[in-house]
Amino acid sequence: MRVGTGHAHAKIILIGEHSVVHGQPAIAIPLRHLPVTVTLQEAISDQHFVSDVFTGSMAELPGLFDGIRVLVERLLRRFSEPELAFTLTVASNIPEERGMGSSAAVATAIVRAFYDFFDTALDQQTLLATVNIEEMITHGAPSGIDAATVSADQPVWFVKDAPLTHFAMHTHAWLVVGDTGVTGQTGMAVNSVKELLSDPDQPGIGQQLINHLGTLTQAAAVALQRDQRKQLGTILNQAQADLAALGVNHPVLQRLVDTANQNGALGAKLTGGGLGGCMFAVAEDEQTANQIATALKQHGAVATWLEPLTDL
Ligand code: PMV
Repeated sequence: MRVGTGHAHAKIILIGEHSVVHGQPAIAIPLRHLPVTVTLQEAISDQHFVSDVFTGSMAELPGLFDGIRVLVERLLRRFSEPELAFTLTVASNIPEERGMGSSAAVATAIVRAFYDFFDTALDQQTLLATVNIEEMITHGAPSGIDAATVSADQPVWFVKDAPLTHFAMHTHAWLVVGDTGVTGQTGMAVNSVKELLSDPDQPGIGQQLINHLGTLTQAAAVALQRDQRKQLGTILNQAQADLAALGVNHPVLQRLVDTANQNGALGAKLTGGGLGGCMFAVAEDEQTANQIATALKQHGAVATWLEPLTDL
């Protein structure tokens, strides 16, 4: 019996969400300690799906999994075995709908598991294009930053429709990610930014904010490479103000951002689509990062994660 496995991991956007949809660069990093593993195991009969959220026949996958169902159908056709009997097992540590790239990571691990199963080499371009089949259904018109980062080992400098660039950061800062517990609304947030950009009553406002976020992203890259932690913090706070002005903030996000800044953070901002989901803070060292995580939990964060930026 044939078997294939595939891996991917969570991601977090450091800066440039939303402005990336409108042509500006963004920086995202892989969160390798939040992995997804997918196993594709040949079976005697049925096409079976196993995960924490749903276990059963592929034909009965709930609507939430439409993107995955279509992706698997396309992969089976691509390898000319539409009737293959299998068990597809998804083991994920990534919280869903929190801006951590859960759907793109699961899709990436599935594509890799299929290529491993069929003993076929998989290049990056094919991987991203195939993951996009799922992301288009789950997210509408994604910039592609999620798919690019959940399969990357290094920080990503992402410009929509341009070749992907990796860059090594040289910073000793720590990240503290805080989950608001409020489901993020990426699609709605992307649309409300689009509406602001074409609002005749506020001419130029949206575009100015997008351009400024682009400038801040360029400055953040320099600060990350030169280990200018204080500057980085200031840049992140400015980005948070721009994102709030774009209309994608949420009161709980802002409460956690303020809590982080009052408890020793160098800076803090929402991450991903916004209107809920996660925020993160940058800390000088691990001890401060722990202190911020404790304060975030006391102020309503349902979960926190620490990530050293050192080894990226
Ligand atoms: O909510 P997430 O983590 O999927 O990030 C969305 C990032 C946006 O820039 C808002 C949208 C996109 O497709 O890039």
